Amino acid sequence: MSKILVTYQTFGGSTKSLAEAAVAGAASAGADTEIREVAMVQADDLSDIDGLILATTQPFQSMAGETKSLFERLWLGRDKIRKGTSFAAIICHKNDPKSTEDNIQTIIDYLGLKQAANWVEVNADEVENGKEQARQLGIAVAQGG
Ligand SMILES: Cc1cc2nc3c(=O)[nH]c(=O)nc-3n(C[C@H](O)[C@H](O)[C@H](O)COP(=O)(O)O)c2cc1C
Repeated sequence: MSKILVTYQTFGGSTKSLAEAAVAGAASAGADTEIREVAMVQADDLSDIDGLILATTQPFQSMAGETKSLFERLWLGRDKIRKGTSFAAIICHKNDPKSTEDNIQTIIDYLGLKQAANWVEVNADEVENGKEQARQLGIAVAQGG
């Protein structure tokens, strides 16, 4: 059974609902799942998981602040991260998410995480449609990307 951690940062709840959909997808594929806000995740938490799914909003065309702090903690504790851990992102946005996606991509390369599945970008005005994409992402990551 794979172990998947889903983490999120939200202001208004949309990104949290996408994270919950990803959890539901991963669980439906038989994974052992956990969901936590980004502020509650430490590098140690990546020592024994198979996949990390991170959901962020896009304030000021960037990942949200606590999300960046999480990546900084992960970098400082990168020796604790299990090699080959899969990673996928969900970006909830109003405008073009490419700059945020590129930035997260660069960071996961630094961290040695393995890009899994097709990342999900959801317009904040179309969250209901995005939940199905997030659910499918959860399934894909649970199945090894
Ligand atoms: C302070 C602030 C600044 C924002 N700036 C942007 C932005 O530059 N680009 C963008 O795509 N969305 C921006 N947004 C909209 C967020 O992407 C949107 O609120 C979010 O996707 C909704 O998710 P949530 O309900 O999980 O907070 C901003 C939101 C806030 C609160």
